[in-house]
Amino acid sequence: MFRKVGVIGCGTIGSELALAIDSGRVKKAALVLLYDKVENVAIELKSRLENSNTTTFSSFSQFVSSPAFANADIIVEAASQEAVKKFAKTIIQRGKDLLIMSIGALAEGDLLHELLDIASKKEVNIYIPSGAIAGVDAIRSVKHLLESVTISTTKSPKALSGAPFFEKARIKPESIAKKRLIYEGTARDAVKKFPANVNVAAVLSMAGAGMDATKVKIIADPDITVNQHEITAKGKFGEIKIVVRNTPSPSNPKTSYLAVLSALECIRSICDDNIRIGT
Ligand SMILES: NC(=O)c1ccc[n+]([C@@H]2O[C@H](COP(=O)([O-])OP(=O)(O)OC[C@H]3O[C@@H](n4cnc5c(N)ncnc54)[C@H](O)[C@@H]3O)[C@@H](O)[C@H]2O)c1
Repeated sequence: MFRKVGVIGCGTIGSELALAIDSGRVKKAALVLLYDKVENVAIELKSRLENSNTTTFSSFSQFVSSPAFANADIIVEAASQEAVKKFAKTIIQRGKDLLIMSIGALAEGDLLHELLDIASKKEVNIYIPSGAIAGVDAIRSVKHLLESVTISTTKSPKALSGAPFFEKARIKPESIAKKRLIYEGTARDAVKKFPANVNVAAVLSMAGAGMDATKVKIIADPDITVNQHEITAKGKFGEIKIVVRNTPSPSNPKTSYLAVLSALECIRSICDDNIRIGT
C-alpha cells in the first residue's frame, strides 16, 4: 500500500525526512503536505524538492482542513512539544497515524492516555522512533523486571543553552568551563526543564519503567564534540549498559544525526516493510 505522508516542522528533522521521501528513499511513500508555523519555511523546503505535488502551510487550521490532509495517511511531528500538545489529538481524531518526535510532550498530565484512547477508538497508530538512543527494544523486553534505569546525557553547554532549566538555575551555560553534572531528576521533570535535549529520556521511560522511575543525569562538558547518552538498566534479567556517542546535526547541535536517521527508518519500515526487526 502506498502511504501519503505529511510533515509538521520543517527544521532539521523535518527537512531531512522530506528530502529523503522526495528522493525515493522510502519506496512506498509520497510526501503530500508540509507545515511550519514560521512563514515561508515550508515553502523554502518545497523549493528544494523534486516533486512539486506537495502542498505547504504556515497555519495549522489551513493544514488540517486541506484536501491534502484529508488524503494523508500518516503525519510526522518534527516540530516541538508545543506542537504535540496543540495538534496531536486533532490529527488522530481525524483518523491519521501520527509519528511523534517531541516525545517529552507526553509527560504532561493525561495527554498520553488521551491520545491512546482516541487512537484505539479511531483504529490509528502512534509511532515513537527510538530517536537519539539505542537499545529501546531491549528495555521494552525487560520492562516488568526493571529495578533501576538511569540515562546520563552529556552535551556541550552550547547544545544545552536555551533550556528552561537555566532560567532558575544559578549556573549559565556560557560560564561552564569544565565538565560538570548540572542536573539530576526524574524523566518527567527533565523533559520540562530540557525539552529540546532529553526526548530520549521520555522514549526510554515509555519503553521501560515510566516517567517517574526513570532517572536522568545531565552533564555539561565544554570539551565534548558529540551528544552522548549512557543508559544503565538493572534487574533480575541482569544489566544493560548502552553508550551512544552521536554526531550533532550541523543545523541544530541539540539534535543528533541519529535522531534524524531513526525517524527516517521508522517511516521506511512503516511504509515498506513486511518484516519487523528488533521490535
Ligand atoms: N525523539 C528524539 O530522540 C529526538 C531527537 C532530536 C530532536 N527531537 C525533537 O524533535 C523536534 C524537531 O527537532 P529539530 O531538530 O528538527 O528542530 P528544529 O528546531 O531544527 O526544527 C523545528 C521546526 O518546527 C517548527 N515548529 C516548532 N513548533 C511548531 C508548531 N507549534 N507548529 C508548526 N511548526 C513548528 C519550527 O519553526 C522549526 O522550523 C524537537 O522538538 C526536538 O526536541 C527528538
